[in-house]
Amino acid sequence: MTESTKITKSGFDLPKFEKGCVPRHIAIVMDGNGRWANDRGLTRIEGHKAGEAALLDVVAGALEAGVEFLTVYAFSTENWKRSPEEVRFLMGFNRQVLRERRDQLNVWGVRIRWAGRRPKLWLSVIDELKSAEALTSKNSKLNLTMCVNYGSRIEILDAVNAITQDVASGKIKPGSITEKGIQKYLNSNFLPDVDLFIRSSGEQRISNFLLWQSAYAEFVFMDTLWPDFDRRSLWQAIELYAGRNRRFGAAIDKPKLGNSK
Ligand code: IPE
Ligand code: IPE
Ligand code: MG
Repeated sequence: MTESTKITKSGFDLPKFEKGCVPRHIAIVMDGNGRWANDRGLTRIEGHKAGEAALLDVVAGALEAGVEFLTVYAFSTENWKRSPEEVRFLMGFNRQVLRERRDQLNVWGVRIRWAGRRPKLWLSVIDELKSAEALTSKNSKLNLTMCVNYGSRIEILDAVNAITQDVASGKIKPGSITEKGIQKYLNSNFLPDVDLFIRSSGEQRISNFLLWQSAYAEFVFMDTLWPDFDRRSLWQAIELYAGRNRRFGAAIDKPKLGNSK
């Protein structure tokens, strides 16, 4: 398969990450397609098209780096506010990318999964997501979760409603729900906590992505517009992550020598 060799063999050298410095779960807000296109005198749709190669290259880079979970924001529950033409394009495009890339991703050992809501989402897109999930369900090299019609607040709200129903029916005792218990009710309950949260395009906001899961994530905001993003950008973000000191609320007392009064 020439296309797959083209993408896996980039010619770029993987930095030497120290042991334990590669995040287990990376989440990415793939942002900046519209600006990338408009800057070139093109329509926003051309920007989305150009974003496909970036995603494939980032998946290849994540495989090379040994990342276990890569979760990408492809269409938010708020993106329905866009023009009907753009929404229609994005639906068809998601379907097409899944159909055309699933074999290649399967060869790479990638397990594709979908996180998001059914209401409003085109049935043909759901079908394509389900076929990709079924085809790749035995793979374990990298878990690639496509967040399509995903919104974190509604994900939490859906979980709360399901929990209250189970309390009402006596399945769970009032007052007994735990943090792990809440996680189980999330639509994306197969995802571990996010270690590294990346957003391209210079915007520094979460935009309703993985709020529960990113409670202790490290954030890296990069100026690169998504169509210009590639595995080197991903590795750069991992290097920044590797230099961070994650404390999870704990503290170590280390007074500097010679500074005591
Ligand atoms: C991200 O790029 C892709 C989707 C939201 C589907 P945008 O379309 O948001 O691009 P900008 O932010 O307008 O440049
Ligand atoms: C977030 O980007 C959604 C996706 C990348 C799919 P947006 O471009 O929709 O977010 P805002 O509107 O800038 O917050
Ligand atoms: Mg945007």
